[in-house]
Amino acid sequence: MQARCQQISSRTGLVGLLGHPVLHSLSPVMLNAAFAAQKLDMVYLAFDVAPDDLSRAVEGMRSLGMHGANVTVPHKEKVVGLLDAADSLALRVGAVNTIVNDGDRLVGYNTDVAGFLAALRLVRDEGARGLRCLVAGAGGAARAVVAALCDDAAEEVWVYNRTASRALSLCATAASWGQTICCPLSVDELPAQVAAADLIVNATSVGLETSVKVSPIPVDNLDSRQIVMDLVYGPNPTVLVAAAMATGARALDGREMLVMQAASSYRLWTGMEPPVATMRESLDR
Ligand code: ATR
Repeated sequence: MQARCQQISSRTGLVGLLGHPVLHSLSPVMLNAAFAAQKLDMVYLAFDVAPDDLSRAVEGMRSLGMHGANVTVPHKEKVVGLLDAADSLALRVGAVNTIVNDGDRLVGYNTDVAGFLAALRLVRDEGARGLRCLVAGAGGAARAVVAALCDDAAEEVWVYNRTASRALSLCATAASWGQTICCPLSVDELPAQVAAADLIVNATSVGLETSVKVSPIPVDNLDSRQIVMDLVYGPNPTVLVAAAMATGARALDGREMLVMQAASSYRLWTGMEPPVATMRESLDR
């Protein structure tokens, strides 16, 4: 750590994470390992930005000349309107998880879509093609997951969210994202659809606070033929991942998606190919 601090100078470029909370995040460990491996004079720091402070934080990025940022819970949707531009995928999804400061403008991108599909392909070569999918959540992360599933020709996507109106609105938007049928689910329909789904994804922030030991998706009807992905990760398996593993299902927490979305963000900030193996290894230290 001392050696690393001694390398920081007045030329060092700053990339940050804007989220709330951020204490759990492994992004600083992973991205600083990547910068160090490629001897880039850049540092990555996490900033806990309360919802009311987001626009000031984005303005701060400009005044401080930050190279860029990642954006996470709960800012992915709100940040879109604070930037100078966003690429077509981020605009379609309505969520940004990566900001690049090109010198004059802050430009938003969404690397969650590619990150989610890369993680899914680790457990199923064909990706989402032909699958019936259940997604919990309707925030920025869920929007990226649903866009990825539609782009990858999933057969159906059922969206359950605590606030039903957000699920309804996500499904209405997703109607134009391809041939995939997207329907909102009520809480009463949830247990039966858990049993019917081939792929189950938690894209809510439940479990981010490691003290919270609940799953937003009922786990009693899981079975071994399913694929279960929880975008949340922590030192121990989440309730959902633990229950899925106990049935023999293929289960992934959010680490692989974290690595793959960060790899795409790294390309955007540096123009270089990311050291993915180093990034993955850094998470186990
Ligand atoms: P992000 O953009 O990173 O997805 P977000 O927009 O704050 O962050 O979305 C968080 C998601 O987690 C939402 O779907 C939220 O549900 P609401 O739309 O009802 O707020 C969901 N979520 C957060 N805390 C939850 C909880 N305790 N129980 C169930 N869902 C929760």
